[in-house]
Amino acid sequence: AEPLRIALAGLGTVGAGVIKLIEANGPLIEKRAGRPIRISAVSARDRSKDRGVDLSPYVWEDDMTAMAERDDVDLVVELVGGSDGPALTLARNALHAGKSLVTANKAMIAHHGLSLAEEAEKRGVALKFEAAVAGGIPVVKGLREGAAANEIDRIYGILNGTCNYVLSTMEDTGRDFGDVLKEAQELGYAEADPSFDIEGVDAAHKLAILSAIAYGARVDFNAIDMSGITRIRAADIAEAASLGYVIRLIGMADTDHEAGGAPRLFQRVQPYLVPRDHPLAAVDGPTNAVVLEGNFVGRLLFQGAGAGDGPTASAVMADIIDIARGEESAPFSIPVEQLDRLEPAESGHRLNR
Ligand code: NDP
Ligand code: HSE
Repeated sequence: AEPLRIALAGLGTVGAGVIKLIEANGPLIEKRAGRPIRISAVSARDRSKDRGVDLSPYVWEDDMTAMAERDDVDLVVELVGGSDGPALTLARNALHAGKSLVTANKAMIAHHGLSLAEEAEKRGVALKFEAAVAGGIPVVKGLREGAAANEIDRIYGILNGTCNYVLSTMEDTGRDFGDVLKEAQELGYAEADPSFDIEGVDAAHKLAILSAIAYGARVDFNAIDMSGITRIRAADIAEAASLGYVIRLIGMADTDHEAGGAPRLFQRVQPYLVPRDHPLAAVDGPTNAVVLEGNFVGRLLFQGAGAGDGPTASAVMADIIDIARGEESAPFSIPVEQLDRLEPAESGHRLNR
């Protein structure tokens, strides 16, 4: 069978993880994909950096944004990050050139996912972003495929591994916020700018993507009511514990029919007090957990590593395998032009369940 030839842009935590995964599981991946998957070209900022992987078999492309135009590339894998800049230029170039795109970049999909999806639909190519939401957990696939026949009543969960690592480690050890955050950065969990993690922005990016798919709504990142964990101190965590709670940063979305008119979309990211006997209270470290409530399937709980090289590379490769198999459905499940424009539910709306 013809190989699927990929360009790999970004060779940091996730990009190097993808190379390690292909090196470790190549024959199995080829069998599952039904054809070989070959890296043609790679690119990052600093060519001389040691990344713990052998890059000698691949062509190094200095101009990352030009990778899509290469004749030996069928699919572009964007693992650079940032909502704009080279990641977005490369993504647009790829789709414009009629090549499929796989990305782990939630910031880019939350801000530009609709225009990228429109271009992908117009060109008849795939745009896939499983790794952008909850790292290794196949929650986009779970929502798009597993719960495809359901009305989604509510979707919520722990969507940021760095914050969960910080909160649960502070809880277990009494250590200082800044010290634990630094450790999360060293372990490769945090964003290049960790304020995206601790201010709730990264969780909001993921929530916007999930709610777009769950509710067939246009992604509206700016409508999310968001606060992070920067003001939480060890004393708050101890006080919560004395009352029988843990603190977790949770993203939550549902639709609000109270107004009697068209549904409105409620989306919020904030620290919640979670009772110790609730399943989300037991989620610690960089683990994420997402709960979907569907009207026929009931409650589904997806839990697993939300950040880190191996789990995220696993989600990236799952998308690549889908494309190798020829799966090219609409990026947000239904064509962009059919997505609803849901008004945001007013701030302060209470979920009464
Ligand atoms: P890293 O910072 O580890 O890696 C980013 C890579 O992109 C590096 O190789 C860097 O080059 C390259 N790069 C950055 N800016 C530029 C630029 N201006 N021009 C050229 N190359 C550039 O990030 P991650 O691997 O952690 O994350 C990549 C993407 O995956 C992001 O969108 C992130 O949000 C997402 N993600 C990350 C997860 C994680 O656990 N880390 C989990 C899920 C998603 P160089 O190495 O030379 O500096
Ligand atoms: N910085 C993100 C997190 C990476 O900590 O969850 C995974 O998306």
